[in-house]
Amino acid sequence: MKKKIISPLDLSTQDIDELLTLSDRIIENPQAFAHKCDGKILATLFFEPSTRTRLSFESAMLSLGGQVLGFSSANSSSAAKGESVADTVRTVECYADIIAMRHPKEGAATVAAAKIDCPLINAGDGGHHHPTQTLTDLLTIHRLKGHLDNLTIGLCGDLKFGRTVHSLIRAMMRYQGVKFVLISPKELQIPDYIRSDLEDGGFDFVEAERLEEVMPTLDILYMTRVQRERFFNEDDYIRLRDSYILDKSKMELAKSDMIVMHPLPRVNEISVEVDDDPRAAYFKQAKFGRFVRMALILKLLEVA
Ligand code: NCD
Repeated sequence: MKKKIISPLDLSTQDIDELLTLSDRIIENPQAFAHKCDGKILATLFFEPSTRTRLSFESAMLSLGGQVLGFSSANSSSAAKGESVADTVRTVECYADIIAMRHPKEGAATVAAAKIDCPLINAGDGGHHHPTQTLTDLLTIHRLKGHLDNLTIGLCGDLKFGRTVHSLIRAMMRYQGVKFVLISPKELQIPDYIRSDLEDGGFDFVEAERLEEVMPTLDILYMTRVQRERFFNEDDYIRLRDSYILDKSKMELAKSDMIVMHPLPRVNEISVEVDDDPRAAYFKQAKFGRFVRMALILKLLEVA
């Protein structure tokens, strides 16, 4: 397995199979893994806000017997003094065995990875990629639907800036018989580089503006937040933020075994009344994130 995980394509489908199998073993018997990382240190370098990603990484390392250090905002690191990302990671490599890094700039993880020898995981680089959210999503789909192929997946909301969407599409393109239904306002459609991948590879995808129309066809609905922090203009954000609100009445149009996923945090795009629907899978998804990150840390540190 590669030691620098920047995009989901840095993992082969065989790596992904192994990570999902290992995650299942961890879920069945977490105690068996409780000391695998004794004496190892994970650094979490978060130049951008996070709840699930940072805390699930930290929880994962602590659950493996390792220790964690790091920072949760750029303001509390030397970035505030003007230090480059390259210098920050070169320094942190002296203090840790593995690094998880989130940064608002696309490509920051690639720059950082080129400077160091220790394993580095991109925990989100701007509107670009977020491979461990994708592993979380794949584990959720695998556990709840039983397979990753022959599924119709609707991705809804901010497909332009949503890095979790970009990474999940890239990952799901490698499984047979997957259909993509891309639901967004015109202004928030997928970036051209993802559209070219879909077109050039001859993938089955449609674009839609109305969620109601496509709802009955979906096996999975992947809702996303409109990414306020990536807009150039607040008025555009305000105009587009409530483009989609999933509520009980829309859920009535869906298959009885469809699952609703969301990387979280949610703002308004899923009404809280949907939380009690057995098809709502987003908090289970958050829980799976810890186990798949445990699996990834084990593999990258070669202690599995
Ligand atoms: C996502 C992210 O940071 O890209 N959150 C997460 O990692 N679970 C999605 C988002 O912020 O909307």
